[in-house]
Amino acid sequence: MKNSLIQKYNVAGPRYTSYPTVPYWDEADFSYEMWTDTLKKSFIESNDKEGISLYIHLPFCESLCTFCGCNKRITKNHTVENPYIKAVLKEWSIYCKIIGEKPLIKEIHLGGGTPTFFSPKNLEDLINGIFKSATKANNYEFSFEGHPNNTSYEHLQKLYDLGFRRVSYGVQDYSAKVQKAIHREQPFHNVAKVTFWAREIGYTSIGHDIIFGLPFQDIDDVIDTIEKTKSLQPDRLAFYSYAHVPWIKGNGQRGFKDEDIPKDDQKRILYETGKKLLFENGYNEIGMDHFALDTDSLYEAFQNGNLHRNFMGYSSSKTQLMIGLGVSSISDSWYSFVQNVKNLEDYYQILERDKLPVYRGHLLTNEDLIIRKHILNLMCQFETSWSDSANYFKEIPEVLLQLKEMENDGLLEFGDKYLKVTAAGKPYVRNICMAFDLRLKRKAPETELFSMTI
Ligand SMILES: C[S@@+](CC[C@H](N)C(=O)[O-])C[C@H]1O[C@@H](n2cnc3c(N)ncnc32)[C@H](O)[C@@H]1O
Ligand code: SF4
Repeated sequence: MKNSLIQKYNVAGPRYTSYPTVPYWDEADFSYEMWTDTLKKSFIESNDKEGISLYIHLPFCESLCTFCGCNKRITKNHTVENPYIKAVLKEWSIYCKIIGEKPLIKEIHLGGGTPTFFSPKNLEDLINGIFKSATKANNYEFSFEGHPNNTSYEHLQKLYDLGFRRVSYGVQDYSAKVQKAIHREQPFHNVAKVTFWAREIGYTSIGHDIIFGLPFQDIDDVIDTIEKTKSLQPDRLAFYSYAHVPWIKGNGQRGFKDEDIPKDDQKRILYETGKKLLFENGYNEIGMDHFALDTDSLYEAFQNGNLHRNFMGYSSSKTQLMIGLGVSSISDSWYSFVQNVKNLEDYYQILERDKLPVYRGHLLTNEDLIIRKHILNLMCQFETSWSDSANYFKEIPEVLLQLKEMENDGLLEFGDKYLKVTAAGKPYVRNICMAFDLRLKRKAPETELFSMTI
């Protein structure tokens, strides 16, 4: 039964960090003015109430991990740091000019690439530069991604002093053979050291990212990785499915062969073994891929119905407006999305002309806004409802018909104008969202766009 479910539902599908998903943005409606108009509208509606979020992409890494799907630039040359920080601050100053008022910042997330590639001093200049023209909101939440091989005590202390309380470390897997295959040698003691330091300094949420389905990874590797993880007791865990997307240009995923990657049932067993161990060790499942201890704010948000999902993944607070700074970053005004250029040289050149480096985007239609709500409900609460007529759309009967088979398979339950994902259905939440994804249904992808759902 289990095997046939995997065979049936393991298809290529989006991870729904947005709706519409990026390949389905309608670029005909994108223009610079469309973005600045919706940005200003969203800012006026939300800044005084809840503040805004900033995502800052810091793209440099010293060494290429061959599994990585992120936008990064590999270099050992640290003279790249200063010009990049200057460019991000320039981009921020253009935003502040357009907005015309001092933003209230509720959330900052430094992602990458590797934020800890940058020196503590440069990161301090970046954050202080942002707050020259902004104010911290009450209960602000600042977080960053740290690489265990280059996060120093000084990084942690400096960022703590600047208000950061959450850090997530890329762990992936502790097995030497897997680490060799993905070109990421990272001993356990490095992860232990940076975890202890963060705790000693006072960080309230320490996260580890681990991945199942990596090349050469077997069940013993997953068990050993989770045993080691348990000994360090991170507050939250991302347990990602390895996304094999070798068609993305320059992502360096060709360092191993396709047949070295665990697939289908083999991969599913890695996931189920890992998940069982995480439950046994006191971790609760939060949305898709995420686990947290009872004491972590993500679990609290999940319990209170305040969990939100955006391009950064899951978050315990929601703001209507998220501005993405840095090369390749995506911004979300709720009414529209835009993405920055992905190439560093283009990013610098556009900023030199005092323009925002946005190059594509999407203006959400009324239908998009409704579907987006359902997809967020499913991804964050594992249930959704259309009892409020504002959440009804005319294709609902077709969607329910399509989901009938998943109901028969015990993956979801229907009620009067609502549906709930069952415990057995949680791994298939992406498939359930796909039934609501009208844009995907109207136009099936012509080329490979998405990783497999499992
Ligand atoms: C930007 S990276 C991490 C920050 C830092 N550069 C590091 O490597 O420690 C964020 C996380 O994305 C996850 N990730 C990257 N590529 C992935 C892929 N192809 N499939 C699944 N997860 C991936 C990894 O778990 C990684 O830790
Ligand atoms: S996993 Fe992290 S360090 Fe490795 S290439 Fe990707 S962003 Fe850089």
